[in-house]
Amino acid sequence: MTKSNTGSFTLTDNQTGKSYDLPVLHASVGPNVVDVRKFYAQTDHFTYDPGFTSTGSCESGLTYIDGDKGILLHRGYRIEDLAANCSFLEVAHLLLNGDLPNKEQKAKFDHDVTYHTMVHEQLSNFYRGFRRDAHPMAILCGVVGALSAFYHDSTDINDEHARMVASFRLIAKMPTLAAMAYKYSIGQPFNYPKNNLGYAENFLHMMFSVPAEEYEMNPVLAKAMDRLFILHADHEQNASTSTVRLAGSSGANPFACIAAGIASLWGPAHGGANEAVLTMLNEIGHKDNIKEYIAKAKDKDDPFRLMGFGHRVYKNYDPRAKVMQESCHEVLEILGVDDPLLELAMELEKIALEDPYFVDRKLFPNVDFYSGIVLKAMGFPTSMFTVLFAVARTTGWVAQWKESIEDPQAKIGRPRQLYTGPTERPFVPLDKR
Ligand code: CMC
Repeated sequence: MTKSNTGSFTLTDNQTGKSYDLPVLHASVGPNVVDVRKFYAQTDHFTYDPGFTSTGSCESGLTYIDGDKGILLHRGYRIEDLAANCSFLEVAHLLLNGDLPNKEQKAKFDHDVTYHTMVHEQLSNFYRGFRRDAHPMAILCGVVGALSAFYHDSTDINDEHARMVASFRLIAKMPTLAAMAYKYSIGQPFNYPKNNLGYAENFLHMMFSVPAEEYEMNPVLAKAMDRLFILHADHEQNASTSTVRLAGSSGANPFACIAAGIASLWGPAHGGANEAVLTMLNEIGHKDNIKEYIAKAKDKDDPFRLMGFGHRVYKNYDPRAKVMQESCHEVLEILGVDDPLLELAMELEKIALEDPYFVDRKLFPNVDFYSGIVLKAMGFPTSMFTVLFAVARTTGWVAQWKESIEDPQAKIGRPRQLYTGPTERPFVPLDKR
């Protein structure tokens, strides 16, 4: 990682005329940052940035997004190249270890992750405590947090080996836990993982095979699944990743931190958008209704937003959405599915991209716009969409968590505030209120 001073900003308090020098830290690519760490001590003021639109919360060497150009790099590699040429576990190796693996490293890494795919048998009792109609994200929040009650030997965050084992466990067990949530909801028996299968294949097997029949793996679908995992693997300091880092900054164990990330991912403005897109497309129903929904999305008095559109960082086409759109066509063609929702989505995209409201605000389709259509065609129920996002993003969360714990400058995350509540006042006893 490079971080050197490249100059400074001078900030003048116009009330007192006093000036302060704020050092600038150098990014390897993209915006440099103004270092405000000593700002409060020097000026008795905080900085104010709700939603962190201009604030860097950490130093990271994992992922870089150029939102204006629509570029996403993991450790310097373009997402399009990784999606076209790598397996998900190679990308996981890249994120965790800093580089793509060579053949030997790949074999070892694949083995190290795959070795941990089974979950403690007693965990299945947890599932039985949930209602059958529980949302699988609700189940996932619970069972991932519960992992910390089962794997005590990998919760010591100060032990490098324990950190690595916890990382392998989380990446390996997440597909197993996700598939169990689905099987529980439909009343089918849980499938044990098969370690002779690849990461995505194993997940499809645990999701869709039943003990009574042979499961025939469709390699094209397995590839599409793997690609979808790659596209969701990491995405810089988004809400869920920041949640994981913040939870981790207190010294909480990694399983608890990832459970916190899952909770944050669930919302429709973040990972819940893929589910919301499909609900929206179903609600629109027909091309003739698109104009009405575009008008709703533009109406400030209407809470409706065009789901799968817009992004805090991308002010250009999300590069993941491009790959996802291609994948969508491919999967539908292979499966021989003629889903009218795809046609509807493409028409909606076309109309939105010509509308000045969306053009002026640089609102483009994001990764979630087409992923739901792919997943639906593959047989996933809508409620599992965000779960799949969580499975893939666990790799990014774990890599970011490790990076934050290993950062020598790590401190507990503790934002400040602009307080606008009452000033101190005398206490009023109950009978006088
Ligand atoms: N439909 C209609 N208007 C929108 C939309 C949308 N999807 N997204 C943003 N806008 C408008 C917004 O009303 C605002 O307009 P104005 O300037 O007139 O007030 C302007 O665009 C800027 O929006 P913002 O809310 O300030 O932008 P943000 O960076 O805070 O929010 C977002 C980003 C992704 C939460 C938002 O675009 C959104 O809610 N999109 C729909 C949900 C979605 O698809 N989320 C998935 C994100 S990608 C997957 C992931 O990484 O989680």
